[in-house]
Amino acid sequence: MVKVHFLGHAAFYIKGSKRVLIDPFLSGNPQAAVKPEGIDADLILITHAHGDHIGDAVEIAKRTGAKIVAMFDVANYLNQQANGQVETIGMNYGPTEIEGVGIVQVPAWHSSSDGIHGIGNASGFIVKLDGRTVYHAGDTFVFSDMALFSELYGPIDVALLPIGGHFTMGPREAAKAVELLRPKKAVPMHYNTWPPISADPEEFKRLVGEKAEVVILKPGEELEL
Ligand code: NI
Ligand code: MN
Repeated sequence: MVKVHFLGHAAFYIKGSKRVLIDPFLSGNPQAAVKPEGIDADLILITHAHGDHIGDAVEIAKRTGAKIVAMFDVANYLNQQANGQVETIGMNYGPTEIEGVGIVQVPAWHSSSDGIHGIGNASGFIVKLDGRTVYHAGDTFVFSDMALFSELYGPIDVALLPIGGHFTMGPREAAKAVELLRPKKAVPMHYNTWPPISADPEEFKRLVGEKAEVVILKPGEELEL
């Protein structure tokens, strides 16, 4: 059994035979369901270099020995931030397997920087663990290549999709993403953390309709796959 635990904003913790933490922005996250000291992981996946996605990755990796997986440039940046005290695995768009976890880094339409200087490119991840497939879209706008993700790597058990608008898709675009991805379930994320990304998850649910089961998780809640 695989559990997908929503930690707030874009932070998710996937628990099965391995523990995969994605975008662990916990310190300074008004929605955070756990403190960075309260989490353990085997792998930490980072979708892009923005602070609300890197979050506490370096600190958690230092304490737990978790390996950080990210785009080559983002991985090097984090290794430098940690003065080489963490293990980073740089990759790029494409499939790989790390510690028995299938990982496909896929494109996302977004920027990736320290706020000023570009660092790699933005991405999403398709994670295959214990026979389940989870797609974390990262920060992105909708794009028709999402149809390829389900064609190549589907069926997707759950798609974690940003709906907050302003920096990413809003509910309307995210509902279109569901149409392209054809996941069994969809979980909205990256909304209501701050005023610019206010969104109504019920609107997303309404727009998705019968196309997938929309599961609205509050920070701290989890979904069983
Ligand atoms: Ni971002
Ligand atoms: Mn973001």
